[in-house]
Amino acid sequence: MKDFSELVINRRSIRQFTEKLLSPEEIEIILKAALMSPSSKNSRPCRFVVVEEKETLQKLSVCKPTGAAFIEHCSLAIVVLSDPLKSEAHIEDVAIAATYIQLQAEDLGLGTCWVQIRGRETEAGEDSEQYVRNLLEIPLQLTVACIIALGHKAKIGKPHDVEKLQWEKVFIDKYVYEPIDE
Ligand SMILES: Cc1cc2nc3c(=O)[nH]c(=O)nc-3n(C[C@H](O)[C@H](O)[C@H](O)COP(=O)(O)O)c2cc1C
Repeated sequence: MKDFSELVINRRSIRQFTEKLLSPEEIEIILKAALMSPSSKNSRPCRFVVVEEKETLQKLSVCKPTGAAFIEHCSLAIVVLSDPLKSEAHIEDVAIAATYIQLQAEDLGLGTCWVQIRGRETEAGEDSEQYVRNLLEIPLQLTVACIIALGHKAKIGKPHDVEKLQWEKVFIDKYVYEPIDE
């Protein structure tokens, strides 16, 4: 990596990947980052299921009707879980862990995309979390927050335009109510 602000500007969601697999070293670096992510009261409620098997990736790609199809063609998916019994802030913890995975992967020059699972449904109307639980034999107690699809970028995303940041969403000292026009 060059520097962190450059990494943030250049990170975009990547949904097209080459055939090249991640190396064992890359996978280890990414998982280390996930395991070092901060958590409320250091409760470390997250769990990670690493999926590389083609058939399982294909099955994960239909866990919801939109926004997941590209999982079939990624090199590796990390299913990010959390244990509500370990922390009342497990949703925040799991989101940070997933973000660490994305940023560490970007630092390695890899592409990622978050696929939201919690609160989503399959085409047939089944809870997407339950679909993934059944597929990967995940205990009912664990929340299936998201899947991070990873791989070598087949397409480079356009960097963020720092000239177009929504500074109107930032308030100094107190909130000033103004309807925000998106
Ligand atoms: C909580 C969350 C859920 C997301 N869910 C999906 C998803 O299910 N499918 C998808 O293709 N992208 C998903 N994304 C990626 C967003 O669409 C993407 O981050 C956003 O459009 C901004 O683009 P960028 O990541 O390139 O900056 C999700 C991102 C977040 C943070």
